[in-house]
Amino acid sequence: MEKSSQYSKDIQSHTIRVRVPGTSANCGPGFDCIGLACTIYNDLQLTLLREPKLIIETTGEGASNIPLDDRNIVWRSISMLLERAGAADEFKGAIIRMENHIPLSRGLGSSAAAIVAGIKAANAILGNPLNRNELLRLATDIEGHPDNVAPALFGGVTVSVVNKGQVQTFSFVPKMKLKLIVAVPDFPLSTRMARQVLPKDVPMKDAIFNIGRASMLIGALIKGKERFLQNAFDDVLHQPYRAELIPGMADVFQAAKDAGALGVAMSGAGPCLIAFTLERSHLENEVAASMAQAFLNHDVKTKSLILALDIRGAVVLNGEQ
Ligand code: HSE
Repeated sequence: MEKSSQYSKDIQSHTIRVRVPGTSANCGPGFDCIGLACTIYNDLQLTLLREPKLIIETTGEGASNIPLDDRNIVWRSISMLLERAGAADEFKGAIIRMENHIPLSRGLGSSAAAIVAGIKAANAILGNPLNRNELLRLATDIEGHPDNVAPALFGGVTVSVVNKGQVQTFSFVPKMKLKLIVAVPDFPLSTRMARQVLPKDVPMKDAIFNIGRASMLIGALIKGKERFLQNAFDDVLHQPYRAELIPGMADVFQAAKDAGALGVAMSGAGPCLIAFTLERSHLENEVAASMAQAFLNHDVKTKSLILALDIRGAVVLNGEQ
């Protein structure tokens, strides 16, 4: 693995806290490219240790399913950051305390949040030897695609492309205030499984369908033209294939639209479904209730989250403990 610039040897504190937002990838047509950050967060308190000792504590969402040894994704991400910063020989262990609010394996970017939390905190302790783009590249290497890690790092709505291993992300705040209504089913769905049902090739007409809508989505958000959002969240590249994994998906989409949502999509690889309303329309509770009922009609129990866009991305909360 390539090494970045050397870290600062003049480290003030070996402990730092960071907060990382949950994320929703794809946003309908932007498969593996578009993402957004939302106002639900995981907190990490990290202490780097010189001795090879690992203490991991997690509370909150999915705590009982998170490995507390060297398989832990936060620790694996920290190790890769230390390696890339040339600090792996100096720091061989860590104390990791996670407080998680992002549901696990539901399509709200819990693994991206874990990766970003680990590398952001370790980088901050080392005096930020990796710049924004180097962090993005490392996070993308670990996660495999940029559409969750980019908004987790930068906040806002993000468009990312990968070209010969280089990741480029454009992050922006839409010119309209959105509410994000998330129906969180009571079952997990692994991204790996949700990718297995996808075809290797798609028809040209489907590619054209998505290119138009993805472009429309970004343009309408940037310019604040809500009337162009009507069909802009639609997708034919991944959602139709994944529908079989989420009972009632089409009905929940319809229920959200009938209740006044601007658009609705799978959140990442699912199983969460996410609807979008304008903040000033005050329709979020109605949309949430309609989505929950439509899911229930298919015997799927859900929790509703009513969120907004996070515009800061991962932040260091304080340096000293
Ligand atoms: N773009 C990815 C997918 C997101 O849809 O498979 C997974 O979180």
